[in-house]
Amino acid sequence: MGSPPRASVHDAAHWDQRYADPARVPFVAPEPVVTDVIADVVTDVVAGVPGACGTALDIACGEGRHAVWLAEQGWRVTAIDFSAAGIATGRALGAAHGVDVEWVVGDVRTWRPAAAYDLVLTCFVHLEEQTLRSVRSWLAPGGHLVLVSHGAGPGGPGPRFRTTVAAMRERAGDLEVLECREVAGEAERSSRILLHARRPA
Ligand SMILES: C[S@@+](CC[C@H](N)C(=O)[O-])C[C@H]1O[C@@H](n2cnc3c(N)ncnc32)[C@H](O)[C@@H]1O
Repeated sequence: MGSPPRASVHDAAHWDQRYADPARVPFVAPEPVVTDVIADVVTDVVAGVPGACGTALDIACGEGRHAVWLAEQGWRVTAIDFSAAGIATGRALGAAHGVDVEWVVGDVRTWRPAAAYDLVLTCFVHLEEQTLRSVRSWLAPGGHLVLVSHGAGPGGPGPRFRTTVAAMRERAGDLEVLECREVAGEAERSSRILLHARRPA
């Protein structure tokens, strides 16, 4: 008898196993490309509503590094991931940073939010077009979508999980594209492909 088949990256079991590995050091630092682009969103949002960043949804939040950072910036954050182990780490990170985040264990392919969001972030997760269509519909009028994926270069996942600027631009659907570009990876890492789009107000 061989060993049981490895769970695919599309299964929560794969990520639970990875996040629960006692040798693992969780990612706690947010991606610079995420913090840079959202710093600009804050300027835009706060221009209309002094002192309030609004509501944010971090999709496939993993161990919660971006959700916690967003909460520290003043967003009211919901963070969803189908890995209970990832969410448990995120919850602990949030508590250590003294911020409140609504943590949800759920599959974004079937989950439905109760209300629309001013900001939706997805970083390093491959979502099919059908799911992306739902994700775009979860934006409030004027709401911002920030998608980050791996581009070319060393490190990072296999080719199936990398993208290009042209392919990323298509993920905006009918949203207004504010920027879509490749950002050089730091310290010998793969480049990042950033899409920043907005739902018309
Ligand atoms: C490479 S990690 C990225 C985590 C996080 N966004 C970050 O940048 O640190 C991919 C994450 O996507 C989650 N994921 C993949 N498919 C999902 C789905 N259908 N619903 C919810 N979470 C999903 C995995 O559990 C994993 O935590």
